[in-house]
Amino acid sequence: MAIILGIESSCDETSASICIDGEIKSNIIASQAIHAKYGGVVPELASRAHQQNIIPTVDQAIAAAKINKNEIDAVAFTRGPGLLGALLVGTSFAKSFALAMNKPLIEVNHMQAHILAHFIDDPKPNFPFLCLTVSGGHTQIVLVKDYFEMELLGETLDDAAGEAFDKTAKILNLPYPGGPLIDKHAQNGDPKAFKLPEPQIADLNFSFSGLKTAILYLVQDEIKKNPNFLDERMDDLCASVQDRIVFILLNKLKKAAKETGVKDIAIAGGVSANSGLRKGLLEMGEKYKWNVFIPKFEYCTDNAAMIAIAGYQKHLIQDYVPQDIAPLARMTV
Ligand code: KG4
Ligand code: ZN
Repeated sequence: MAIILGIESSCDETSASICIDGEIKSNIIASQAIHAKYGGVVPELASRAHQQNIIPTVDQAIAAAKINKNEIDAVAFTRGPGLLGALLVGTSFAKSFALAMNKPLIEVNHMQAHILAHFIDDPKPNFPFLCLTVSGGHTQIVLVKDYFEMELLGETLDDAAGEAFDKTAKILNLPYPGGPLIDKHAQNGDPKAFKLPEPQIADLNFSFSGLKTAILYLVQDEIKKNPNFLDERMDDLCASVQDRIVFILLNKLKKAAKETGVKDIAIAGGVSANSGLRKGLLEMGEKYKWNVFIPKFEYCTDNAAMIAIAGYQKHLIQDYVPQDIAPLARMTV
């Protein structure tokens, strides 16, 4: 039997999870509400909140899994990418715990973990599969050849998809993080109400900054004509923005599927919680006869279950790291 403790602290979620023989027994997430009033994550405040939350979060994860901390066989932690000060908290905790309990330490790449969240529940994708990983900091199309053998086929050249949602939300006067709010308003709006540009980017890369600028100009022009524009057209604006972002994402995914011939297609990361993207992928999957994999909501945004499941796979091959390991703000998939 193998019991893995997973720790995630790369951004504004402090999370701990217990995985027993590949099964997630607990996944506790302490979200940091403090950032909302600043309109984005403030790194210093994130580090401080992680420092306050980490031990209670780990205690809760251990209690919820009904185990004793002495039974943990290995500690997996997010090494990067992410905010360095935030990563340091989780890394230091994991190292101290491993040292005190005399257990091995496992480093996990956060972007790989988002993808490996698909191995928590059935049905699981078959290798090789394609994954569109869309979060607040990244937008990537990855060819997943094995658990830890991944090839980056395309990525964003400027803003990430989550950033496109959040920055647009800011223009629309919605609070941070705006992605889920745009999703909510979009459900009652007309996706074709406003015509927004499609970036002309070659290959499998993405660009979202032009879209953001187009929305800014559109809103500024319309408010000049009608000061109540945002209130009156919020649902239609959100539906149109969401429709365009989803179209851009799925178009490239379709291209990647065509080029690679791969039929197992997954999405991962915070933006994979978006209802428009989930629906669009299901429709496209039916059309092109793909096997589509969509994570449960709790495994879309940052969580330690994905760190624990990735850690479990590394534990099986005894892929451990020494105590002098340090976190990395940047890491490729
Ligand atoms: O993966 P994640 O939790 O953190 C990072 O690693 O970045 O992703 C957070 C991002 C935010 O930009 C948030 O607005 C976006 O995911 N997001 C959504 C939705 N839920 C979360 N975007 C659009 N629609 C949603 N339902
Ligand atoms: Zn993430």
